[in-house]
Amino acid sequence: MKILLVGGGGREHALGWKIAQSPLLTRLYLAPGNPGLNLYGEPLGIDADNLDGIVDAALSRNVDLVVVGPEAPLAAGLADRLAQAGVACFGPSAEAARLESSKAFMKEIADAVGAPTAAFARFDDARQAKAYLRECKPPYVVKADGLAAGKGVIIAQTPKDAEIAVDDLLGGALGDAGRTIVIEEFLDGEEASFFAICDGARVTPLIAAQDHKRAFDGDRGPNTGGMGAYSPAPVFTQSIQQQTMDRIVKPVVAELARRGAPFKGVLFAGLMIGDAGPKLIEFNVRFGDPECQVLMRLLKSDLLPVLHAAATGTLGEEPLDWSEDACALVVLAADGYPGAYQKGSVINGVEKAEAIDEVVVFHAGTRKSGDRLVANGGRVLNVTACGRTIRDAVECAYRGVDEIDWPEGYYRRDIGWRALKAFI
Ligand code: AMP
Ligand code: GLY
Repeated sequence: MKILLVGGGGREHALGWKIAQSPLLTRLYLAPGNPGLNLYGEPLGIDADNLDGIVDAALSRNVDLVVVGPEAPLAAGLADRLAQAGVACFGPSAEAARLESSKAFMKEIADAVGAPTAAFARFDDARQAKAYLRECKPPYVVKADGLAAGKGVIIAQTPKDAEIAVDDLLGGALGDAGRTIVIEEFLDGEEASFFAICDGARVTPLIAAQDHKRAFDGDRGPNTGGMGAYSPAPVFTQSIQQQTMDRIVKPVVAELARRGAPFKGVLFAGLMIGDAGPKLIEFNVRFGDPECQVLMRLLKSDLLPVLHAAATGTLGEEPLDWSEDACALVVLAADGYPGAYQKGSVINGVEKAEAIDEVVVFHAGTRKSGDRLVANGGRVLNVTACGRTIRDAVECAYRGVDEIDWPEGYYRRDIGWRALKAFI
């Protein structure tokens, strides 16, 4: 099978690493790839947002399947363009991708099937939004409707701060993403990310992971794309998984099919697990980054036939096979991230880290400069390790981190703390 993989971050490196292990793979093309990923395939020099370039490359190289990592090309209609061209694509249509690109659409679908989620209302008028806030209790959750790269959620403790958030968003602080806002009930509990592969009608559950969104130890500092992850998630029991599948994932997939927008690809449910069971915070229409990386390390089954079956509407009933181990991941980020940061500093020691049994390092934001590896993004490397328990996996991942010599980077030292505390 000839595959074209779209994207060039840690998530795509992990997908490529796993796809490369498939006996079904004959060729792997990369758009654009990265220095780690390029070991498994041929980089085509096409960026992930170059839809024309990707469609042309898929046709000219006669690929059997395009696997899309990030959400932006999906929201821009890459899957639709490939469908028109007759190329199978793992990733949803732009219409189905609205589950992620429009919070109001996600809420409408959740409401239509009675999926448990926070009570909400949407506004494009500040006066009405503030009148509604007066009926709510703190903390107040105010969100931009559109894609806002993690900046679109404000959790305000006081009515005054909530009103400021309303004025900022509707005033255009995030551009068009915030012209419509959603105000919703605050959900209490522990967060987990759950994933399911869908072929438009059928659904195969994957497993859950937990990530760490804040930049600094103790869950302090600004929100990031994720500074670490681990799986399994102790909070995500069999019973919680069953409830998530029955009340949220399956009914939502059925509702999208009923509306003529069948969901093909991986559905990522961001959940709050509280006393009343799982409640939906958000949907994403792609794998989580860095959650994908720990899932790929724990998946024993061949990934390629599952991706192909999802893309072609032929998903089987058989469950996937997972390792009994745990996996932990530590993100090495550039100093300053998620704010301004420098690119171009030299990184040494990746090979030494990977010489440790059970350690695999994925590249998230690197580039080659001659023979040297240099930083080229905010999140730069993902050090992953498997172990018998989460504690073993975390300890091993940090042994890997210790081998990496990159003075211009930083990382959290407490990845997995919630899970480790649960075991004391
Ligand atoms: P989102 O962009 O919707 O994933 O929200 C970003 C983060 O804000 C989530 O990961 C949660 O930590 C938090 N959050 C969003 N909505 C709620 C809510 N209704 N209650 C509590 N926390 C929330
Ligand atoms: N790690 C969260 C995300 O990929 O959105």
